[in-house]
Amino acid sequence: MTTSTPATPAAPATPPSFAFPAERGGCPFDPAPVYEQARKEQPTCLVSLWDGSRTWLVTRHEDVRTVLGDRRFSADATNPGFPFLSAGRRELATRSPSFIRMDDPEHAHLRRMLTGDFIVKRVEALRPRVQEVVDDFLDRMTTDRTSADLVSEFALPVPSLVICLLLGVPYEDHDLFQRCSAVLLDSRSTADQTRQASDELVGYLEHLAGEKEHSPDEAIISRLVARGELSRQEVARMSLLLLVAGHETTANMTALSTLALLRNPDQLARLRAEPQLIKGAVEELLRYLSVVQAGVTRVAVETVELGGHTIRAGEGVVCLLSTANRDEGVFGTPDDLDVARDARRHVAFGFGVHQCLGQPLARLELQIALETLLRRLPGLRLAVPFEEIEFRPDMAVYGVKALPVTW
Ligand code: HEM
Repeated sequence: MTTSTPATPAAPATPPSFAFPAERGGCPFDPAPVYEQARKEQPTCLVSLWDGSRTWLVTRHEDVRTVLGDRRFSADATNPGFPFLSAGRRELATRSPSFIRMDDPEHAHLRRMLTGDFIVKRVEALRPRVQEVVDDFLDRMTTDRTSADLVSEFALPVPSLVICLLLGVPYEDHDLFQRCSAVLLDSRSTADQTRQASDELVGYLEHLAGEKEHSPDEAIISRLVARGELSRQEVARMSLLLLVAGHETTANMTALSTLALLRNPDQLARLRAEPQLIKGAVEELLRYLSVVQAGVTRVAVETVELGGHTIRAGEGVVCLLSTANRDEGVFGTPDDLDVARDARRHVAFGFGVHQCLGQPLARLELQIALETLLRRLPGLRLAVPFEEIEFRPDMAVYGVKALPVTW
């Protein structure tokens, strides 16, 4: 498909147009106040992006699901007008495209190669192994010590090691893929920095795919190679998606969830007293925190009426998951963290055909990591004042840079 100049959407009668992404306000767990205002006053509105282009912002739960469930909105980043949220994101989507940025049937064909690995039954079978990994990192973190950075010693290594085991990537190389992932997910990265990081990671994974041709194992990369349908580069791009999506998201959710619970002591106490609430509590934390903070992007490929506006082919759309997850029409007292709430309708994993492939794994990891952390460290608390915690407003996945804790 060819790219051309994006269509500029016509301004609506009362444009609340603001620059996207916007800055968060007082509570670091809440979406930016201007997003919440948009959801209440003009739930589908125009915003301007870093490159001066304008795109539609969709903020209500129902509208987000409508867009993500409708084939007239494409995830294919080669379509004219596709909204890129930074220069780096544009570079990544064009340089190293993976099925998250494709439409069916290509998307479905590639995704199907992996669905068997991520169905609930297969993932549940990993429970004992994930529990071992969690206990192991907690042992290392706590032996002979009373404080640590929860991000670098627990939240990040647990999902990194698990996704390495699933893919067949040596965990010893975690410095390389964690460094590259950090560049790929940072909205401040330039196109050059993104190109370098993506080439380095794809090169590494291509080399690994080559090695698996000669010495295969039981893991995903070997099995993708053995199918003989994909080039080494295609295997590498798919693995890059899994590797990056598979550790940064869960890692940030683990650390941010811990912080949110520490800031809501009544909820923390309830979860400690009733550990059987953990599954629902994880759904609630996914809803409340919505770590994919800038939402998910699509472009209209046909004219669609939405929220009283006409969205024309070639106009971009950003579906904001954070405001959809705070929609009071769906969730009562949405700004409260309530570990006993039924939060199952949240859209933190997206919606429609691109809904997160790894969600059973993310759920399993979060349930085990949080339950074990709270059980084993009953005195867990922050080691620094809350005001000193640094958040990650510029990353595709929201979280904290470090979480100094003591117990
Ligand atoms: C808390 C953790 C996670 C969150 C919040 C999350 C969120 C999301 C979201 C919102 C999407 C939809 C993107 C879109 O529609 O454009 C997505 C897609 C995806 N996620 Fe996750 N994710 C998480 C964990 C994981 C894990 C652990 C893996 C892999 C092992 C993974 C792999 C994927 C893949 C491959 C896609 C693309 C699916 C497709 O295009 O069909 N994610 N994720």
